[in-house]
Amino acid sequence: MTAIVVLAGCGKQSTLSPHSPDANGIAVLWWWMLGIAAVVFFGAVALLLLGWFRRDRPGLPFVGEREGVNTALVITFGMVIPVIVLVALFAVADLWLVQRTAPPAAGSTSMTIRVIGHQWFWEVRYPGTDVVTANEIHIPARTRVQVVARTADVIHSFWVPELNRKIDMIPGQTNRVLLYANQPGVYRGQCAEFCGLQHAHMAMKVFAEPPKAYHAWLAGQEQPAAQPATPEQRDGQRVFLGNACASCHTIRGTSARGTIGPDLTHVASRETLAAATIPNTPREMRRWIQNPQHIKPGNKMPALDLSGSDFRAIRAYLDHLH
Ligand code: CUA
Repeated sequence: MTAIVVLAGCGKQSTLSPHSPDANGIAVLWWWMLGIAAVVFFGAVALLLLGWFRRDRPGLPFVGEREGVNTALVITFGMVIPVIVLVALFAVADLWLVQRTAPPAAGSTSMTIRVIGHQWFWEVRYPGTDVVTANEIHIPARTRVQVVARTADVIHSFWVPELNRKIDMIPGQTNRVLLYANQPGVYRGQCAEFCGLQHAHMAMKVFAEPPKAYHAWLAGQEQPAAQPATPEQRDGQRVFLGNACASCHTIRGTSARGTIGPDLTHVASRETLAAATIPNTPREMRRWIQNPQHIKPGNKMPALDLSGSDFRAIRAYLDHLH
């Protein structure tokens, strides 16, 4: 059931449904490669069939058994045409597309965000602000956004197929990639380098919004966390801060300053939990904090030995952090 909800809620995540000039270039190259490969494949099949139908007749059609022509055909189809096709594809792919999708020079875009890969979630920082979020990247549409990609542990690869190529996150190295969306929309992304048990559950969403909506979102995220408003939420905050939660998660405006797990200052404003693995509903939130190892085995979040009412209180508190 959860899987159906998650699948229904996500975008196509297809490199063939481009929503930026760079992704469009990648899709165009893919279609050209498919077209050329199709011509080669069906040409070879046609020649094979021709040979099979004529298997009892000597020589080639039209040219007969002339030795020089046979050699010329082998050289043309076996060497000259493959070399021309491969050189042309290399030139287009490497000299045109790789250059075109190369990251823009530092400082050449009006906006920069930092994305840090973790086993198994994406930490997202907005330089110049205190904003730290996870797995859901908001950007203004029709704006060139430089992504500075790093990793906190092993190799990951940041990939939003509808917007651009992949970029690896390599320990000790900083890589960059451009994010640009032709129009507002939600674009799903996925870790594209095997990084351990939950590699498949390391997804993200990019929300490209009209600039006004983006700035309103950023202003909201800059606020410290909401104070608890009900006795249950106050209980939840007390349990959260008094247990292991606070040593792994940050909630700005409280004493929780852990950096192992995602920043939860505005966790209720996110659509999904656990790197776009489950929807962020009260029911799934409670399932997650009660038994994170059941939903995502191997992740760093332990199951805490708390009472049912403590779990309910934590959930009520986190659901309040818009
Ligand atoms: Cu991170 Cu695969």
